[in-house]
Amino acid sequence: MTTLAIIGGTGLTQLSDLNIIKREELNTPYGSPSAEFVTGELNNTRIIFLARHGDPHSIAPHKINYRANIWGLKQLGVEQIIAVAAVGGITSEMIPAHIAIPDQIIDYSYGRKHTFFDDEAVTHIDFTYPYSQKLRSRLISAARDANIKVSPLGTYGCTQGPRLETAAEIQRMEKDGCDLVGMTGMPEAALAKELDIEYAAISVVANWAAGKTAGEITMAEIERHLHKGMANTAELLKAFVG
Ligand code: HPA
Repeated sequence: MTTLAIIGGTGLTQLSDLNIIKREELNTPYGSPSAEFVTGELNNTRIIFLARHGDPHSIAPHKINYRANIWGLKQLGVEQIIAVAAVGGITSEMIPAHIAIPDQIIDYSYGRKHTFFDDEAVTHIDFTYPYSQKLRSRLISAARDANIKVSPLGTYGCTQGPRLETAAEIQRMEKDGCDLVGMTGMPEAALAKELDIEYAAISVVANWAAGKTAGEITMAEIERHLHKGMANTAELLKAFVG
């Protein structure tokens, strides 16, 4: 059986429907992962859960040890990852609390340890399609079966954070073709590809991106929309594994 992992982001530090079997602390050649790896059963399917920002949520996007997280999952035999993350909505379909299954990435982050191929012979992985088409299709069908509306396509722009963007930065990202903006999609997706792990993302819109509405983005607004979006995400994950 294929070993599946779910990486939870802001708003999904724990999976409440997971029947926990064990928790493992791992060390890796790249340092410590964000949290313990939690093995459990979700809808009768065994999965491994990892809280990307730690549990409790305490690690900022630019400080996450993405290499240790992905290496740890590989060590545990993980072959597929569904990565859940909060995002800002840029294009008109990406309204707060909505879910998208992105198909493309533009990386604006910098200074992150973004490869396992630092010291060895130079290796260039193909990254034309950063997400697993197979996992994306399965997520989209599971959403249809569970009656959850999702956008089946979208370009995810990864910013450095932890601050949110300026209105001009979002305008530029929209011109570049981004539909969504988040802070954690990279280098996570590329590291998974380097280790030959299938990877797809569930992007949960927490707010309109900067400049898309009058006024400032508040944490209260983000929390409110995430609450709703993550409830749908939990249902989607159950349908996906079932
Ligand atoms: N920008 C970047 N990351 C985010 C946002 C945003 O507006 N909302 C949630 N994560």
